Amino acid sequence: MTILVCGGAGYIGSHTVKELIGNYEVVVLDNLSTGYPFLLDDNVTFVNGDLGDEEVLDFVFTTYKIDAVFHFAANSLVGESVEKPLMYYGNNVSSTLTLLKKMVEHGVGKFIFSSTAATYGIPNKEIITEETATNPINPYGRSKLMVEHILADVAHAHNLQYVVLRYFNAAGAHETGVIGESHDPESHLIPIILQHLLGQRDQISVFGTDYNTADGTCVRDYIHVTDLANAHVLAYEGLNSGKVSNEVYNLGNGAGYSVKEVIEACEHVSGKSAVVKYVDRRPGDPAVLVASSEKIYKALSWKPKFQLVEIIESAWRWHSKQ
Ligand code: UFG
Repeated sequence: MTILVCGGAGYIGSHTVKELIGNYEVVVLDNLSTGYPFLLDDNVTFVNGDLGDEEVLDFVFTTYKIDAVFHFAANSLVGESVEKPLMYYGNNVSSTLTLLKKMVEHGVGKFIFSSTAATYGIPNKEIITEETATNPINPYGRSKLMVEHILADVAHAHNLQYVVLRYFNAAGAHETGVIGESHDPESHLIPIILQHLLGQRDQISVFGTDYNTADGTCVRDYIHVTDLANAHVLAYEGLNSGKVSNEVYNLGNGAGYSVKEVIEACEHVSGKSAVVKYVDRRPGDPAVLVASSEKIYKALSWKPKFQLVEIIESAWRWHSKQ
């Protein structure tokens, strides 16, 4: 079986490719706008192109016998989405529409979609289930939710089955140490702390200390990238076996850690002390985002293997080598 991985040269896409290789043929389509050639696995067929490009998609779907599409290719920074909504709706919604249109035309009927906790906005509950109301508060979250709605409509009208996976805070690196998290510029908490502890940044800024949480800093649910990758493979196998179809699942650990707690855990793992500056809130940050992942556990027996310290240890191994 051959899987087309759109965005397979990115952080979560490249880790998922690693889980697929060996059992599946993999074709990666990536325009390398935020992905990196060094994250590309040697065992994939790589097509350098844009998923909004109909000719490229026709080429891929006629050249390779694609059984399913895993779609990671997107812009994913909340702040940037507020600055550049047209880019976000163009890349995340419009290009995905083109991809879906070409899938329908070429008779490719299985789709795994990367969505996000940002679809919930500021939730009215501490533990978020898939039933929690979706009220995204930025273009990034809205772009992902729009595609979720589009998928439901397309699946109703055409021969398409999908699984939507709503990630909470992806972090960590592959156990081999050969791939890990790399963004330019970096904006995510754990890589920023580790870069600081490695002497690559002067200090860490903590955005807001007046949230309604135990220590006043934001609480997030950190989930290892390999656990996310495994969920994609399980979701695809569930679609294939008919176990699941057209479902939305949260992917998180079900445990929340504050920004201060994450800094302490990073200090513990690295054996180094951080210089911390407390600054104003970052616009658009909800106080607490913690997932219930019961639904995917019940449907597909997916359970995260890695907790916060192991996530940070794997990230530390990766960042120490960069
Ligand atoms: N933070 C800091 N200092 C930093 C960086 C982050 O205090 O230098 C804080 C943030 O304010 C936030 C927490 O650390 O409270 C985590 O921030 P990240 O930027 O690492 O992650 P986010 O929670 O903002 O974003 C993640 C995903 C997004 C997704 C979002 C859903 O990266 O794609 O969760 O809310 F949209």
